[in-house]
Amino acid sequence: GEHVYKYYADGEWKKSTSGKSVAIINPTTRKTQYKVQACSQQEVNKVMDLAKTAQKLWAKTPLWKRAELLHKAAAILKEHKAPIAECLVKEIAKPAKDSVTEVVRSGDLVSYTAEEGVRILGEGKFLVSDSFPGNERTKYCLTSKIPLGVVLAIPPFNYPVNLAVSKIAPALIAGNSIVLKPPTQGAVSALHMVHCFHLAGFPKGLINCVTGKGSEIGDFLTMHPGVNCISFTGGDTGIAISKKAGMIPLQMELGGKDACIVLEDADLDLVAANIIKGGFSYSGQRCTAVKVVLVMESVADSLVKKVKAKVAKLTVGPPEDDCDITPVVSESSANYIEGLVKDAKEKGATFCQEYKREGNLIWPLLLDNVRPDMRIAWEEPFGPVLPVLRINSVEEGIHHCNASNFGLQGCVFTKDINKAMLISDAMETGTVQINSAPARGPDHFPFQGIKDSGIGSQGITNSINMMTKVKTTVINLP
Ligand code: G3P
Repeated sequence: GEHVYKYYADGEWKKSTSGKSVAIINPTTRKTQYKVQACSQQEVNKVMDLAKTAQKLWAKTPLWKRAELLHKAAAILKEHKAPIAECLVKEIAKPAKDSVTEVVRSGDLVSYTAEEGVRILGEGKFLVSDSFPGNERTKYCLTSKIPLGVVLAIPPFNYPVNLAVSKIAPALIAGNSIVLKPPTQGAVSALHMVHCFHLAGFPKGLINCVTGKGSEIGDFLTMHPGVNCISFTGGDTGIAISKKAGMIPLQMELGGKDACIVLEDADLDLVAANIIKGGFSYSGQRCTAVKVVLVMESVADSLVKKVKAKVAKLTVGPPEDDCDITPVVSESSANYIEGLVKDAKEKGATFCQEYKREGNLIWPLLLDNVRPDMRIAWEEPFGPVLPVLRINSVEEGIHHCNASNFGLQGCVFTKDINKAMLISDAMETGTVQINSAPARGPDHFPFQGIKDSGIGSQGITNSINMMTKVKTTVINLP
């Protein structure tokens, strides 16, 4: 019969008893590339039990041993970068070189997390009682960080490996167990990544990966009483999850509309290079992509000309050929992007290139003279289409940025550091980059969104802390 990738539970690869599978469509060929198991709710229940049991033992495993296993997994992951990258190319149409980079970056992230965990979990606090009014020095308080239990990790399609390990590694070093639900596009890449953890020799049941239909196991997983923490990266689904989840810590990253504010004194070549990198890498399918350019009118013509020249040089085609612009993840995504483009056309935006689409492949497009009444001024295309809004004052730029429902990152280009700092303070986003495009990495930097962009802060250190709880023991002296 046909090959269906197995799911991972109890340290073994298993077939679902549902007898059903989920097809993964290659965005380039638009044909079925792989199939994965459609796990049932009963199988999810079983996995939750296993994860709970395994976690209790794991929490008692010495920290240095947990770190050692993570280092091992990191090395194995890097050794297997080629086959995993190949899956990324086929499942999510990520350009070949970027696919390899994703796996290598993931290995580095796992190693760094192991080291950071040893550092920050290896120490606690010691408090004495007589610093609070009315107390004698009769109480010693010892603090430590204990794991939460079972962490449910839900990464998105655009980084199915990297945004999986950015949840798995902090969870594990802190003594938690993992139930991973990979995105459908990217599930096979994630299963290969899980295999590297399997080869590293983690205890059975500690890491589990269930695949399946969101409609069957999505809510069932996120509302499961066995889950003690959810770390989710993705779209609007995250808002629904946060409403339905129980009284557990949530880590959410739900996209953005990252603005690029360009002042009159900016180095326009630097800006143009960053708009290309920030707006068109992985065809704009990044939460941190530059999604709107807000440029001062006096330099707008000159900037648009520079960006236009660079857009013309972007290669467009299959990810296997390592093209800059590759097919977007799905037909529905391509249709959505097309809807935004049509709306902008009807409302009079200036097209710097002709709009062109073949299947899921959309040619890079810069839209100038976009106005606030156009959908693309506010919505996230998650594709290679970038709007430029011309502004007459910095305040106008800040106002547009802050009027968004999103608040992930933003960037400002100017040679005046004082102005840059004032604008950074005024922008309601989790991060502001001065003179560079938004980006999550390096992966130990804090990463957070405000408003609809998310809950909590990520980055290696913050994720480890988020996946623990403070425990105190008080010694009462006679
Ligand atoms: O879209 C995922 C988000 O985390 C972006 O990551 O590394 O492309 O800035 P990065």
